Amino acid sequence: MKIKTQKEKETKKLAKKIAKSLTPQEEKATVLALSGELGSGKTTFTKGFAEEFGIKEITSPTFVIMKKYQLKNKEFNRLYHIDCYRIEEKTDLKEIKFEEILKSPRNLILIEWPERLINLPEGNLMLNFEVVGENERVIKTHDLPGLKKQLN
Ligand SMILES: Nc1ncnc2c1ncn2[C@@H]1O[C@H](COP(=O)(O)OP(=O)(O)OP(=O)(O)O)[C@@H](O)[C@H]1O
Ligand SMILES: [Mg+2]
Repeated sequence: MKIKTQKEKETKKLAKKIAKSLTPQEEKATVLALSGELGSGKTTFTKGFAEEFGIKEITSPTFVIMKKYQLKNKEFNRLYHIDCYRIEEKTDLKEIKFEEILKSPRNLILIEWPERLINLPEGNLMLNFEVVGENERVIKTHDLPGLKKQLN
């Protein structure tokens, strides 16, 4: 799927749509890997996604690597926003108990700069963000096993 969005609003709208369509997977967390250059909309997407779960105050976790939000949701209990931009060593991930977080089907994990992770688990929803104009971004995705229905 390839979608062009105009301004933040449409990127958030797409994120909300994806958030609504997710259903927990068996024995593992749902991971959305958000790749793309600086300023391409990864955090904007995360904000829209979190808003769908009632979280309004997403701030970039750049300096803490990970932020955790409790959800009042039937299917998912926690949302983790991870920003790997500053990650240089594998040990950083152990510090945030990453492996454990990946095991729970109740966890939703959004990862910015996933390419900086050494062992990114397979079977995630990969989204790639591209800047194509001042207010235009192209977002490419492929299907995740947990997607309830095809998005279009
Ligand atoms: N269609 C669009 N979708 C998303 N953001 C847009 C769009 N058009 C313009 N923008 C602007 O682009 C910027 C995107 O910033 P954002 O922090 O989401 O990027 P990012 O990919 O998280 O960058 P970084 O790699 O630095 O974390 C914002 O200032 C936003 O207002
Ligand atoms: Mg960001």
